[in-house]
Amino acid sequence: MEIEIRLTRTGEHRTACDTMCRALLTSPPDDDRWAKSRTAWESSISYSAWDGDDCVGHAANLHVETTVPGGAALATGAVTWVGVLTTHARRGVGTGLMRALIDDATERQWPLMSLRASEATIYRRYGFGVAGDFAAVEIESRRARPVRGAAAGAMRLLSVDEVPAVVDEVYRRCLGRRPGLITRPDPWVERHFRAVGESKDNALVAVHLDGGGEPDGYVYYTTSWSETLEQGGKGVIHDVFAVSDEVELALWRYLLTIDLVETWKSLGRPIDDLVIEAVADRRAYRITSVMDEQWLRLLDVGVSLRARTYSSGGDGMVVAVTDPLIDRNNGRWHIDGSGARRTDEPAHLVADIDALSALYLGGMSWRTEAAVGRVRPGPAVDNDRYRMALAAADRLFAVKPLPFCGTFF
Ligand SMILES: CC(C)(COP(=O)(O)OP(=O)(O)OC[C@H]1O[C@@H](n2cnc3c(N)ncnc32)[C@H](O)[C@@H]1OP(=O)(O)O)[C@@H](O)C(=O)NCCC(=O)NCCS
Repeated sequence: MEIEIRLTRTGEHRTACDTMCRALLTSPPDDDRWAKSRTAWESSISYSAWDGDDCVGHAANLHVETTVPGGAALATGAVTWVGVLTTHARRGVGTGLMRALIDDATERQWPLMSLRASEATIYRRYGFGVAGDFAAVEIESRRARPVRGAAAGAMRLLSVDEVPAVVDEVYRRCLGRRPGLITRPDPWVERHFRAVGESKDNALVAVHLDGGGEPDGYVYYTTSWSETLEQGGKGVIHDVFAVSDEVELALWRYLLTIDLVETWKSLGRPIDDLVIEAVADRRAYRITSVMDEQWLRLLDVGVSLRARTYSSGGDGMVVAVTDPLIDRNNGRWHIDGSGARRTDEPAHLVADIDALSALYLGGMSWRTEAAVGRVRPGPAVDNDRYRMALAAADRLFAVKPLPFCGTFF
């Protein structure tokens, strides 16, 4: 029987959720858990695959906005809940679902799609590239303090009821601080901070207060006391967001001076985390792994390239883009410090769409993409001109701080 791929209908979302859970090796939700997830599922753009009456696959887009270099925010399909039952794997169902999401987001005129991958081998074929990495870290408090550069100002613990609105307000003010940050859909906020409401794991949100007593940064963390006295307390840092560097460091000063916590862990920190240079002993901050964080896909190359800024100075360059899935993206763009425009000039560089998508936020290297063959010389471009164009592209696209998202969807 042919597999039908279509929008999930009212009343089908729970079945689709069960299918996705099975594919991701987890049990389907009980009634209580489903009641908490239901709104998120029903408000997503959900596509499912059907073998007769059986749901055999699912994929969805959430609508977010991604900050791009220079501070503009671009509409983005945030891909989530992707899974195909093992009984139906490797028969093109996943590809059909991804194609449906790409077509749907293109029709909505969203210039970007973004995702977090369970495996790094799946999504390049659909034009996604790794636009940013993140690090899992461990920090020894005693060895790390004191923290340099922290703003003065008081800290305050939020009550459960205050968390959504105060965090939302602070987080929105932080969105322009790094490329790759995204707006957070309401159901995501509810789920992310659920542990605070349920009083689990001593989950707390503390805010830093500016001179006028208004919150200008927050940290979300959980702590636990170990069985044995020698091991002391442990903490997990979920979010550190602040409107400025000195407030960010004030949040770290707060965390690292909680006496009973000997070791902090975080699963997702920027690889250029500001606090590394601020602690007394930088070896107190250990990166335990680095992984791909955000996979990005440019759905509209023209809109995306024009929306970001480029560093000025030096030569511009012309890049020809090849995109086997979205025809309008095939073309040439002239890029220099003043911006990007479509052109008929000959290309210095040819970039596959997955490479350009990876390079777009400025955290990855044109030189590396060229070394592995995803960026190549344009026709009739000699070696010297090719190398100069790669160097120019790296200069134009580079950003500091590096791209980071920090929101897992
Ligand atoms: C990943 C997944 C959705 C792919 O679905 P699928 O229906 O098997 O994919 P398709 O049949 O359309 O495969 C398309 C291509 O991707 C390849 N592919 C699919 N899954 C892959 C994987 N996990 N690793 C490497 N290659 C994979 C296929 O071999 C095929 O290659 P080809 O184009 O060269 O023939 C499915 O295997 C799955 O549900 N996995 C477990 C849950 C999961 O990881 N979800 C993703 C969360 S981010």
